[in-house]
Amino acid sequence: MLRKMITDKHYPITATLQIPLSYSMTEVDHGRYRLMFTRAAGMGKCHLLWLCKVSIVILLSWPTTQGLDNGLALTPPMGWLSWERFGCQINCTKWPDSCISERLYLRQGRLMLEHGYVDAGYEYVRIDDCWSAPERGVDGRLVEDRVRFPHGLKNLSSTLHSWGLKIGLYGDIGTQTCVGYPGFEGYFEQDAWTLANEFEIDAIKVDACHANESDFNITYPAFGRALNKTGRPILYSCCWPSDYYEQHNHWENPDYLNYGIKQTCNTWRNYFDVFDSWESVSKIIDFWARLGPEDIMVKAGGPGGWNDPDMLVIGNPGLSLSEQQAQFAMYAIFAAPLMMSTDLRTISDESRSILLNTDIIAVNQDPLGRQGWCVGSKPLPENSRIWIRELIPTWWNNSHQVKDCPPQTSDSWAVVLENRNTIFWRQAITFDPQIHLPNGHSWHSFFVRDLIARKDLGIFENNFTALVDESSVGMFMVFFISSSESGAEEA
Ligand code: GLA
Repeated sequence: MLRKMITDKHYPITATLQIPLSYSMTEVDHGRYRLMFTRAAGMGKCHLLWLCKVSIVILLSWPTTQGLDNGLALTPPMGWLSWERFGCQINCTKWPDSCISERLYLRQGRLMLEHGYVDAGYEYVRIDDCWSAPERGVDGRLVEDRVRFPHGLKNLSSTLHSWGLKIGLYGDIGTQTCVGYPGFEGYFEQDAWTLANEFEIDAIKVDACHANESDFNITYPAFGRALNKTGRPILYSCCWPSDYYEQHNHWENPDYLNYGIKQTCNTWRNYFDVFDSWESVSKIIDFWARLGPEDIMVKAGGPGGWNDPDMLVIGNPGLSLSEQQAQFAMYAIFAAPLMMSTDLRTISDESRSILLNTDIIAVNQDPLGRQGWCVGSKPLPENSRIWIRELIPTWWNNSHQVKDCPPQTSDSWAVVLENRNTIFWRQAITFDPQIHLPNGHSWHSFFVRDLIARKDLGIFENNFTALVDESSVGMFMVFFISSSESGAEEA
């Protein structure tokens, strides 16, 4: 995989594939580069060729001016965030195990490490509201609550860093946080300095309560500049737009690209807070279902900046297992940040394996970074929908049943088949690339992998049908097989 680390003027590129290639690079227009390369003789492995070729094309040709240039969130951030599960419980006498305290974050971080979450890609331990003292310190500095964080935030950061984890904190662009703790307004430079140099955090969620909504296009970028000035890379998660921001107007006409949101934030919330209920999660999914590939919200999501449908509630009591599975599959299609908000001490094995499904995580983290969309419900059974997400072209090179490696494989898609019925058993839902993929997709032959069962299903011609239970999804990776050949490659 290629990664682009952005510094002021330099764009070093590292490739983790050790493949013999010679290449040259030219700038085709502002911020867009073309990489020409020639494969070396003897490169017989088609899957390696394709991975390499396409990665270079896509990531280099992404306009560098499109996203926030802090080098972070080239794929959606992954981690754990306390709010949905632990809220603002500050009574540690009564609730020592679940109050907002250093003990909670250390324990959850340790379990992320010990129970495979870090290996699967989750890296941020994120603190939400209610971590600070009710007032600023005498010198105007933000200070943590010293009863609940007796060793201080810096110490908590150092410990999490020493375990290879990152730490996130929470604040507000206005005068107070949503619960009423000190906000950043009037202290942007000082607070950015404190977050970066005193607390040494790696991510900040900046809420939008107690603030002037009409100034968000000034205040959010200004706080972002203050963060950048510190020189510490800090993931910037905005609540701009948010449920309390120009509600319907902004939902229906989001101007993420022109209004500065994508240029300012690494992630931005679009909708109401998630709760631990299927009603709440389905409303979020329905909100996304209105969007097609041409909607600006879909176009805005991509390397550097992502739409944020709020936390994963997988592992909590409110959703059935199939509903938890559905939330995870949909968040992969949405290219959404994967922020677990659950108690990792008590999570069931079943929920844990949903969160650790690396096939679905790979879709979420696909380096092409294209957000998926709903292709609608026709001609499908009532209350069914099909969702698609374009992935970086690749080839599934393990137990597939193709005898010869095809000379080229081409586009790859993640497909979710959704049965929204809450009664009446299973539905047979048929995916037909010619109907459901864009631009009159004409390739008939494709290989299918079931991403929930984590099983290769083999090659299908024309279409593919799966039985999907009520309130459930099926999720598949589809790799098309073409027979065209290519010689020297141009990217
Ligand atoms: C808002 C946000 C939540 C959470 C709370 C904290 O409601 O949307 O995610 O951060 O504030 O007070």
